[in-house]
Amino acid sequence: MTDTQLAIVILAAGQGTRMKSSLPKVLHPIGGRPLVSHVIATARALHAEHVRVVVRHERDRVAEAIDDGEADFEIVDQDEIAGTGRAVEVALERLPADFGGDVLVLSGDVPLLQADTLAELIAAHRASGAAATILSAELDEPTGYGRVIRTADGSVARIVEERDASPDEAAVHEINAGVYVFRAAPLRDHLRLVDTANAQGERYLTDVIGLLRAANEAVAAAAAPDPRVALGVNDRVQLAEAAAILNARIVRDWQLAGVTVIDPTTTWIDETVVLAPDVTILPGTQLLRATVVATGAVIGPDTTLVDCEVGEGATVKRTDGTLAVIGAGASVGPFSYLRPGTCLGANGKIGTFVETKNATIGERSKVPHLSYVGDTTIGMGANLGAGAITANYDDLAKHRTEIGDEVHTGSHNVFVAPVRLGAGAKTGAGAVIRKDVPAGALALSVAPQRNLEGWVEKNRPGTAAAEAAAHSRSAQKAEDGSEEEQEA
Ligand code: UD1
Ligand code: CA
Repeated sequence: MTDTQLAIVILAAGQGTRMKSSLPKVLHPIGGRPLVSHVIATARALHAEHVRVVVRHERDRVAEAIDDGEADFEIVDQDEIAGTGRAVEVALERLPADFGGDVLVLSGDVPLLQADTLAELIAAHRASGAAATILSAELDEPTGYGRVIRTADGSVARIVEERDASPDEAAVHEINAGVYVFRAAPLRDHLRLVDTANAQGERYLTDVIGLLRAANEAVAAAAAPDPRVALGVNDRVQLAEAAAILNARIVRDWQLAGVTVIDPTTTWIDETVVLAPDVTILPGTQLLRATVVATGAVIGPDTTLVDCEVGEGATVKRTDGTLAVIGAGASVGPFSYLRPGTCLGANGKIGTFVETKNATIGERSKVPHLSYVGDTTIGMGANLGAGAITANYDDLAKHRTEIGDEVHTGSHNVFVAPVRLGAGAKTGAGAVIRKDVPAGALALSVAPQRNLEGWVEKNRPGTAAAEAAAHSRSAQKAEDGSEEEQEA
């Protein structure tokens, strides 16, 4: 083992013009986190003595997203001099003046590299004693990347950017992943010499490689084990590619941890999600942010859960949920919309075409069909009939509906909040509940039905309805008559 110190420089100052976005490129998310946050997390796993993140474009937004307050983590501002070389130079100025260790340079837009790949790169660098070691990759489609140009003896000569490459150089398939380890001293010395004589007029870090070789310093290249992890995100096509590769990795890890995923390509799981063994995920499911799913739960198909907690053995089918808690053994969906503050108790049910918000629904309680339940507390073992609506808003303020244990309500009720239904109460079909219902009472708010005989034929003569009614009545009369004959 060597006791050489390590400093990590993460480049995140560029605008990301090719994204054509108002959001800085490095803040575009994959797997639920900004690109640059993946890079920072990987850097953290290497336990470097110093971490420096270089920012410039939209610096406050980027800085806010990444400031993690850990020891010797510093955000460094790049000045108006452009280029990856300048970015590294300003970062080096923010290291201790006597820093003589290795500098690992990472790009904020190369999010898929893992710590073990970087640890191997650092180990190879230290073993060879080279001034610089490049992470390279052999790509079938190298367009857009800097190419690694080698001499006749096979050693690395320099890196040429695609825009500056001759046709022969552009035909090279070995690319620079934008990730390097340098010994600090030769990096400092040669960065000073980098000029802007290139197609973009920028000070390229990549030029340091050729300069080191010209000074007879050794430069090595280590190939990435899987070339796909070298993917750099410059546009939205590459953003989707990176997201898909990361997602495939996340899904595979969960499968190996005991989660059944029927269709990995239509299942999207953020890095922040936690799943238990024997969870089953059906096609078309997105589990996002801080979602946690307990064992035996079945999620999907076609379900999106954001910041949700799903209990053991629950089923959640064709559902959209945010900041909701679903109890053990509960059943949700199909076609349910769980808005923030929904808390469904164990073995409860939120069924078809039901929307809930700020609603606590107790154990074994059910809201099975066509309902809106907002700002509501429901006790245990209650059942709301089809078409229950809590009228929680009176045009000025929101009010609560409280429904006690074992309450059963009739179909198509409106609960005009604030209102309470005591334990065991019942309501009739179509009731509009404006007043509290005492425990155990039956509440009827619909006037008794009256039938006005012959109303249609009298008031709507000649209509199809009147004719149908007349026909029905004469048929009924004939039937009654023949019955009388038989009886006689
Ligand atoms: C860069 C490399 C290229 C390599 C590719 C790998 C250079 C000159 N080229 O090209 O050889 O194949 O990455 O993905 O380095 N940045 C700054 N300050 C700047 C400019 C850029 O911090 O002034 C940051 C960007 O935010 C980005 C990274 O550096 O995170 C790379 O910049 P980008 O413009 O994407 O370089 P590429 O053209 O991809
Ligand atoms: Ca790039």
